[in-house]
Amino acid sequence: MKVIAIAGQKGGIGKTTTVMNVAACLTRGRRVLVVDVDPQESTTWWAENAGEELPFDFTADVEPGKLSRIRNADYDYVLIDTPGTLDNTDVLSAVLDVTDFVVLPLNPEPLAVPALRRTVAHHIVPRGLDYRVLLNKIDRRVFGQLEDWQKLIDDGLKMPRFNGYVRASKSIADGPLDGKVVTQYNDTRATQNAIFDFTTVARELQQALEATPAATAKGAN
Ligand SMILES: Nc1ncnc2c1ncn2[C@@H]1O[C@H](COP(=O)(O)OP(=O)(O)OP(=O)(O)O)[C@@H](O)[C@H]1O
Ligand SMILES: [Mg+2]
Repeated sequence: MKVIAIAGQKGGIGKTTTVMNVAACLTRGRRVLVVDVDPQESTTWWAENAGEELPFDFTADVEPGKLSRIRNADYDYVLIDTPGTLDNTDVLSAVLDVTDFVVLPLNPEPLAVPALRRTVAHHIVPRGLDYRVLLNKIDRRVFGQLEDWQKLIDDGLKMPRFNGYVRASKSIADGPLDGKVVTQYNDTRATQNAIFDFTTVARELQQALEATPAATAKGAN
């Protein structure tokens, strides 16, 4: 089993969106659980809108202090959605203590950078965790945006990142209200980018997880 945290201490960068859509793309042949420990319960609301339709299991019923029990559950992948705040880091810390790999969404907005640096420096590097930055809400109509931000992550921040990225799209934004994740979208001109982007990122994540040693020591905590 691998536990993946989606984190970032800035609100609205796409943590919940990434958890739900990447989890859906990981389900082919694998058992996947999504855990919501965010008091905002956005993931829970989305799951409620989806009813029985979600292609993975979902729980909001785990106290952060008891997360280590998750490692005994019978799943291939457990994805944990975390709160986006700089202040109360107790929940984030509890999640990262049981995590194998961290996905850090980043939007192409300069003001998102300080929060990312802080999360990595204060919470991820000290734990020696594997992680990757995921560019989200990319607008390919903005000349040079993708390339500039990839360069900033590589050369400026010197952080590992996904080669794949997620474009801004209406179908992604509508997902929570429709109670849908990308694997449930009809493949149309309007949805094909979203389906492609999350499928690509999930495949890359799966490859990265295979290269990440299982955190067997953590299971004993
Ligand atoms: N690629 C995308 N294209 C369009 N809209 C997006 C995309 N990613 C996220 N959004 C929208 O941006 C908003 C914030 O996304 P989301 O709730 O996933 O962020 P979050 O990091 O979980 O926020 P919080 O820190 O408040 O938990 C939502 O309205 C969501 O639908
Ligand atoms: Mg959220």
